[in-house]
Amino acid sequence: MADIYSAIKISESVYWVGAIDWTIRDFHGYRTPHGSTYNAYLVMADKITLIDTVKKPFMEEMLARVASVVDPSKIDYIVSNHSEQDHSGCLTQVIARVRPEKVFASAMGVKNLGDILHGDYAIQPVRDGETLSLGNMDLKFMETRMIHWPDSMFSWLEKDGVLFSQDAFGMHLATFERFADELPADMLEYEAATYYANIVLPYSPVVLKALEKVAASGWAVKILAPDHGPVWRKDLGFILDLYKKWALQKPVAKAVVVYATMWHSTEQMAEAVAESLAREGLRVKLLSMNDAHRSEVLYEVLEAGALIVGSSTLNNNMLPQMADVMTYLKGLKPANLVGAAFGSFGWSGEAVKDLEAMLREMKVEIVSEPVSVKHVPSREVLEKCALLGRTVAAEVKKRISV
Ligand code: FEO
Repeated sequence: MADIYSAIKISESVYWVGAIDWTIRDFHGYRTPHGSTYNAYLVMADKITLIDTVKKPFMEEMLARVASVVDPSKIDYIVSNHSEQDHSGCLTQVIARVRPEKVFASAMGVKNLGDILHGDYAIQPVRDGETLSLGNMDLKFMETRMIHWPDSMFSWLEKDGVLFSQDAFGMHLATFERFADELPADMLEYEAATYYANIVLPYSPVVLKALEKVAASGWAVKILAPDHGPVWRKDLGFILDLYKKWALQKPVAKAVVVYATMWHSTEQMAEAVAESLAREGLRVKLLSMNDAHRSEVLYEVLEAGALIVGSSTLNNNMLPQMADVMTYLKGLKPANLVGAAFGSFGWSGEAVKDLEAMLREMKVEIVSEPVSVKHVPSREVLEKCALLGRTVAAEVKKRISV
């Protein structure tokens, strides 16, 4: 397969030897309409080193790309920066084929890989700040716990200025272009933001610390080599500044209204709320969970000041589409939002109360009374929805002016 798949040189000593997954459409609940890549990197040092591997079905593709540079059996070291199975799933088989001298991971990585792979080989733990000699160059490790797993770490190849950043600065995007500067900036920003919102968001405080740690390290980073999507080799400030902005999660003059409806009553209410927010000058994204996907909601919420949610009541509960997105939102912990709830019901009306309780659990500040209506909203009820929108808009403006 080496005549089909080839490695791509990303620096004097480093080759991209990953795999392109053109068809993946779901990444544990995150919709990936544009596929992904699993990036692995080959460092052609005295000790030939493979940084990360790929998802199990893509092992042959990765080894074929390696073989276009060097016989895979010549690999001396393997470094696992992140033990999630899209980067470690084939590690046992790769070790059996390559028979490397040593395999390295963070201490948590060693534990995780043991629990995931149950291999009978030893993996050597490396510490934060430790330097590994590759003979004619060094690799240095930086623990980045909880970006986005406890085992996560970066590896730094000073000789070429390459920071191998595992999932950080990545995106789910299958392309033949290997470098970010070969792709349009708006595409990069959209895909990186969607990735951040759906994978990295809950660990934003850790991201800020990691950005500070990298800045304080004095490392002159020339290339950011993530485990998904294109490699960053020009204008690194573009993605670093975006990460800082997303991690800070400062509220902006934008509201996201998310709802699910049975007979269009909750929908009428959602539209009244959204119209009022827009009239007050906020940018508004109105998403019906009857057709939107939870990943899209997270993308929209990443840069917003308000989250307003609505549902009809079905059998004493919110509609299942809303339960889905609320559970997903709760796990991804968007911060610094104000919000409110609304909805219609036939006889019991639990959905609005339950939505409001979930917003509180998510630490969304409730700034308006909920609006709840039996069956179809009257003009008076729609005016209450408009008032809800005005109240939320005023609170968002207050927060962004501070
Ligand atoms: Fe790309 Fe967290 O795995």
